[in-house]
Amino acid sequence: MTAPSQLEPPQSTEIQALFNRIAPAYDPLNDWLSLGQHRVWKQMAVRWSDAQPGDCCLDLCCGSGDLARRLARQVGKTGSVYGLDFSAAQLAIAAQRTHESVQPLNVTWVEGDALNLPFETAQFDAATMGYGLRNVLDIPRSLSELHRVLKAGATAAILDFHQPKSVWIREFQQWYLANLVVPMAESLNLKQEYAYIMPSLERFPTGADQVALARQAGFSQAIHYPIAGGIMGVLVVQKP
Ligand SMILES: C[S@@+](CC[C@H](N)C(=O)[O-])C[C@H]1O[C@@H](n2cnc3c(N)ncnc32)[C@H](O)[C@@H]1O
Repeated sequence: MTAPSQLEPPQSTEIQALFNRIAPAYDPLNDWLSLGQHRVWKQMAVRWSDAQPGDCCLDLCCGSGDLARRLARQVGKTGSVYGLDFSAAQLAIAAQRTHESVQPLNVTWVEGDALNLPFETAQFDAATMGYGLRNVLDIPRSLSELHRVLKAGATAAILDFHQPKSVWIREFQQWYLANLVVPMAESLNLKQEYAYIMPSLERFPTGADQVALARQAGFSQAIHYPIAGGIMGVLVVQKP
């Protein structure tokens, strides 16, 4: 399989294969490339999802499950979390990490498509999604599926890269991706896979556009919070 072209949007099977292939290196690379900051940003997403002890929650595009496990710690023994992803290799790592966790966590891993969720309507009290929205092929459909499975009044927090407004910070972001992220991935034979971040970010809607898409999907409230100088952002949405 070749990595998705930098000009053409990738196909769903290409994205699935890409995330299967990077699964073993994914967590250590995240730590290195964000200098551990992704943990802080994911924790912010958990807080903004307003998940409460005892809640039944969903983590979409869960990958190796870091955000889903954080959500599981938040909902505690009486709550439950479903982590959904279409990459079997990422889910295998997610299950193994959870098995090794000292604290027992109530997480169910589900292999499925964020564009066609295998869940009942109005099933979840809260949801998170970390670095998934930029990767799904149909953002409006993904938001409308998320809206469908949330209960009335439920909140979801969607964390992803963002294009900073400041030209300086944007140039730094581009330099960082080109000169640190891609070479580090290259040392693991994953150069093409990580070179994919920048074009995916260029295609990704801005915060204001994400808010508009969320409203079209039926969310009564939608606010996009730029974080980390605008390099990242969290879209917080609420179902009426
Ligand atoms: C960048 S990773 C993020 C993983 C994890 N949420 C995190 O923050 O570390 C994006 C994930 O989205 C998943 N993904 C992309 N499109 C998907 C879809 N349509 N349905 C389910 N999973 C999808 C990929 O398999 C991948 O694991």
